[in-house]
Amino acid sequence: MAQVLRVLGVETSCDETAASVVDLDAGRLRVRSNVVSSQIAVHAEYGGVVPELASRAHLERLLPTLRAALEPVAEGRACRETLASLDAIAVASRPGLIGSLLVGTSAAKALAWSIDHPVLAVDHVAAHLVGAMLDAEPVAFPSLGLVVSGGHTALFLMRDALTLEPLAGTPDDAVGEAFDKGAALLGLPYPGGPQIERLAARGDSSAVKFPVPQLDFSFSGLKTALLHEIQPPPRRAKGRADAVSGAPLTDDRRADLAASYQRALVRAVIHGMEHLWSERWSDASAPERPKTLLVGGGVAANGLLRSELAAFANAQSIALQIAPLHYCLDNAAMIAGVGALRAARGERDPLDFAPQPISLLRPTRTLSVGRPS
Ligand code: KG4
Ligand code: ZN
Repeated sequence: MAQVLRVLGVETSCDETAASVVDLDAGRLRVRSNVVSSQIAVHAEYGGVVPELASRAHLERLLPTLRAALEPVAEGRACRETLASLDAIAVASRPGLIGSLLVGTSAAKALAWSIDHPVLAVDHVAAHLVGAMLDAEPVAFPSLGLVVSGGHTALFLMRDALTLEPLAGTPDDAVGEAFDKGAALLGLPYPGGPQIERLAARGDSSAVKFPVPQLDFSFSGLKTALLHEIQPPPRRAKGRADAVSGAPLTDDRRADLAASYQRALVRAVIHGMEHLWSERWSDASAPERPKTLLVGGGVAANGLLRSELAAFANAQSIALQIAPLHYCLDNAAMIAGVGALRAARGERDPLDFAPQPISLLRPTRTLSVGRPS
C-alpha cells in the first residue's frame, strides 16, 4: 500500500490566521484538521484590512492556531513528537501582505528547521484550486481552473494539480474587491461579498441594468455604474425621480441595487469564461480541451455564481468541482494540500526563500485580446 504523506499547512497571507494538517493517501487529499482564526472583527471598523494590525494579529494567533491544528493528530503525543511525525511543512509564501506573510513563513521555517523536515513555499492563488480537491474524488485533467477571490480573478489551464498555465486575469480589481467596494457604496460592512449576497436575496436583479463586460474580467466600469446609481453625476441626475444625488436610499432600492450588481458581477465572470472557451475549445476535438472546471476562492461561496458555473459546465459538458464553502475562503488546508502534492514529488524549498507580495502566476494576457477598439 502506498505511503501516507502528512503535511502541516500555514496560512497568514491576509486577514486569516490558519493552520491545517492534510494527508495525501492513495492520491486523495484528506483534511485531518482545519483551524481558521478570522480577523474580520479586527478590521471591520476600518472598512478593510489594515496591514499593520493584520501582522500583529497573526503574531498573537499563530501559535494557538498551530496547536489547535496539531491536536487532532497528536494521539496523546507531545507537541514536538507530533511535529516530528509530519512529512513536511507548507506555508503560503505569496501573494499577500508582506508583513503578514513574514509571520507565517518565519514560523514555518523555524518549525521545519527544528525538526529537520522539508519546508514548501506555496502560491496562495494556485492553492485556491487545490481547495476544490480537498476531501474530494480525484480530478480528471486537463482542467480549467477559475480563482475568484478578493485579490484575483484568474483562469488557468491545469495540466495537473500543480502545472498551471495562466490564461486570463482581470485588468483591474478582482471580483471580490468589486463586491467589497460595491458593498461599501451601499453602506454595508466589510467583507462585502456575503453582505451583498444576503441583501440581494430580497431584491430584484432586473431592477437596474448594469453594463456587463462581455469579453474580459473588468469590473471598474461596473463599480462606477453602481456609484452613479447611488450618487448620480449632476447631468444624469437631472429629471430623475428615483435617484437624486445625496438622497437616502430606501431599503427596497438598496436590495434591488445589490441584486442587480451581484448579477452583473457574476455575468461578467461567466461571459469572460464563455469568451475564452469559444476562442480555444468550441471544437470538441480542440487540443487540451478541459474535462473539468475547478473553482476556488472566497467569491466561489456565492450561491448565484455557483449556480451559473453549474450551468456553464453543463453547457460545455464538463465536470464541475467547486470548493465546498469552508474551503472557498482562505484556509491552510489548501496550502497543506499543495505541500502534500509537491512533497509526493520529492520537492522541497531552501530555508532561505523570501515571501513575495505578488503571485508568480500572473496571466500572460487579459481576456481583452481582440476586443474592438
Ligand atoms: O479567497 P478569499 O477569502 O481571500 C483572498 O484570497 O482574497 O476571498 C475573499 C473575498 C472577499 O472579497 C469577500 O467579499 C468575497 O471573497 N466573498 C464573497 C462571498 N463570500 C466571500 N463574495 C461574494 N459572495 C459571497 N458569498
Ligand atoms: Zn485567498
